[in-house]
Amino acid sequence: MISDPQISLPRVAVIFREEQHRRGIEKALGSNYKLSMFDDVSAASDAMAASPPNVALLDSSMGRSIEIERLLLASSVTPIVFISKKDVGPGDLLSHAGKTNRFLDWPLSTHDLTETINELINEKAEKSWEKLPEVQHKPLKLTIQAYQAISSAIESGAPVSFNEAAESCMPLVDAVKQSAHHDLLVSVQSHHNYTYVHSMRVATLLTLFGHGIGITGTDLLTVSTGGLLHDVGKMVTPPEILNKPGKLSDEEWPLMQEHVVESGTILHAGNDVKKGAYIIAEQHHEKIDGTGYPLGLKGSQLNELARMSAICDIFGALTDERSYKPAFSVEKSFGILESMDKAIDQKMLAMFKEIFIFTSPGSTA
Ligand SMILES: [Fe+2]
Ligand SMILES: [Fe+2]
Repeated sequence: MISDPQISLPRVAVIFREEQHRRGIEKALGSNYKLSMFDDVSAASDAMAASPPNVALLDSSMGRSIEIERLLLASSVTPIVFISKKDVGPGDLLSHAGKTNRFLDWPLSTHDLTETINELINEKAEKSWEKLPEVQHKPLKLTIQAYQAISSAIESGAPVSFNEAAESCMPLVDAVKQSAHHDLLVSVQSHHNYTYVHSMRVATLLTLFGHGIGITGTDLLTVSTGGLLHDVGKMVTPPEILNKPGKLSDEEWPLMQEHVVESGTILHAGNDVKKGAYIIAEQHHEKIDGTGYPLGLKGSQLNELARMSAICDIFGALTDERSYKPAFSVEKSFGILESMDKAIDQKMLAMFKEIFIFTSPGSTA
């Protein structure tokens, strides 16, 4: 039995002289990042040189000093967010800032701070993908670009282009055909846009499943694109619900479930969306015993695609790490799906398990 690994949250160094400011930042970020607190620049420099965090937050009112110079040197691999108090601007520090560093004004909003940290983590993740072989780099590069374009379209109320999303999935289909999907499932997890990470993993798993049972050509591309788009409705889910580190309340749960209806609405607003993609988006939370949502469809009301997408959606979420749970092992995840006896199509699950295990040496996801 493989034991579950520990959760590895992104690491953020917080360098603030005043305790109340450190406490405020801890309250805002503590559930989603592993924070190291410093009231002293020298101690932060030593710690960051020994074990670089993903991002550092620096109170720039600590001024320019030899210690700050050391910190900037020690943090050559760590981007820094300079946080400027009203009375003391970043001033000279600007000249030290590498192009990946950022500046924010005090008082901080949790939204701006989180967004800035995540952008820096994502820039680094996307850069690290460039070192992968082209067969894996290309699908990651194109799908994140497509996801960003979809996000901008939704924000501005423009229709989502299915054809553009499908084009970004072509290299993903090629990667699966060349059995190069395993590193995709792992590498995408360094990104911090979880809806993208989950969608890309579901797209990869669905492509693998579809390819394994003999779906080909444009039908396979539709399955793949349906996976990438299946949770687009989460782009309009309130972020505090979407990123809540823990169980949702009775009031919050229906708001989370609404993402399915939203996904359908967003996709129906486009004019080039394929029917298979609607089914994946609108039915991936339905269960064959009628206990799913939003419609509680049952048995033969759910076709092969709906059943496949439910399996891949759950498997992708179980094997992924979140701030409130570690990534479950492949063995444990299949065990959970097998225990969902009447809710999940067990024949299809057995097929998926065989395909996954056969094509994924080492059985990790
Ligand atoms: Fe979903
Ligand atoms: Fe999902």
